[in-house]
Amino acid sequence: MIPKLPSATVAIMYRFQERIYNFGAGPAMLPNEVMEIAAAEFLNYKGSGMSLMEVSHREPLFEDVLQEAESLLRKLLNIGEGYSVAFFSGGATLHFSALPLNLLKEGESFDVAHTGIWTKKAWEEGLKFNGVNVIYDATPNNFTETPVLTEADLSGKGKYLHITSNNTIYGSQYPKLPKIQSIPLVADMTSELLSRKIEVADFGVIFAGAQKNIGPSGLSVLIIRNDLIGISGRKIPVLLDYSVMIKNKSLYNTPATYSIYIAKLVFEWLDKLGGVSKMEAVNEEKAKLLYDFVDSSSLYVCPVQKKSRSKMNVVFLLKDKKLETKFLDEAEKNGLHGLGGHRLVGGFRASIYNSMPLSGVQKLVSFMKEFESKA
Ligand SMILES: Cc1ncc(COP(=O)(O)O)c(C=O)c1O
Repeated sequence: MIPKLPSATVAIMYRFQERIYNFGAGPAMLPNEVMEIAAAEFLNYKGSGMSLMEVSHREPLFEDVLQEAESLLRKLLNIGEGYSVAFFSGGATLHFSALPLNLLKEGESFDVAHTGIWTKKAWEEGLKFNGVNVIYDATPNNFTETPVLTEADLSGKGKYLHITSNNTIYGSQYPKLPKIQSIPLVADMTSELLSRKIEVADFGVIFAGAQKNIGPSGLSVLIIRNDLIGISGRKIPVLLDYSVMIKNKSLYNTPATYSIYIAKLVFEWLDKLGGVSKMEAVNEEKAKLLYDFVDSSSLYVCPVQKKSRSKMNVVFLLKDKKLETKFLDEAEKNGLHGLGGHRLVGGFRASIYNSMPLSGVQKLVSFMKEFESKA
């Protein structure tokens, strides 16, 4: 029999002080406030005697969660009536397959601005179904830059333009998102959605895996302009078919109910904090603190060009490579977790998504200063 923990014990288990700062790129840390609500509601959701995890997706208890999650997301991003929202069981990668199948007829192609591994993956997947036109390639500058894209950069053949707005692995980001009128702009915003204000009306499709700024991994969010739904006329595997998922309000099959519930709590948390513009100001402060310190130091260096630096994933290197293992070990001992760079890039990366408080970045900077003074 599972012992019933007294609520005081549960409270202690989830005490703020016992949680470390997780700078990992994802699954990333979630707000303490969200985790505490989830813990408190875990065994008995709203007096039902069940965990929400055990509730049918067809019951009002869950339907309310789903509906609130969508309406909060609409409010936070100011998503207009002309757009549909759906939650998918499957990460952002699912959309690399779904996008061409939903938006292109056989024989058509899409444009891609290649700024890192995630555009490469989208392009490779797209090639299985359609043509791909690479209209920009950041390979020669080792992905340290994002382009300023205009209509003139388009291939003229592509039916939409695919971009990754924030390059999680290389730590680059479009400082200003492109405005393209002639074809729909499709943006993978996995590692930045809800971190800064965007004009949804500038996009045909926005999609994001949840595990950075939204909630648990394995869930993704789709925002699509209504006139783009069902335009390919192709036979599409049902769970990749945007029109089926939207028509059924994300309930064609059993959705990732608990993940959607956590996403709803995250949206509520963000809304209570003052929404995306408030969060954007905090994110700018955090990123400035870290980049200013790195730029002023003689041990650390950021390889990304200043104009394209990500406010979500701060990539840096140690000038003295011999100190790398020591840096990571000592960071861990100080409760600063997940600072290793992506396995393909090396170096270090501090992911400072919405849930990373300013105090986490302050602690990281103090640690880095102290480490440098002893190096
Ligand atoms: C920008 C970007 N796109 C796509 C993905 C893939 O997401 P998933 O693992 O949820 O499929 C990631 C994962 O980190 C990402 O950062």
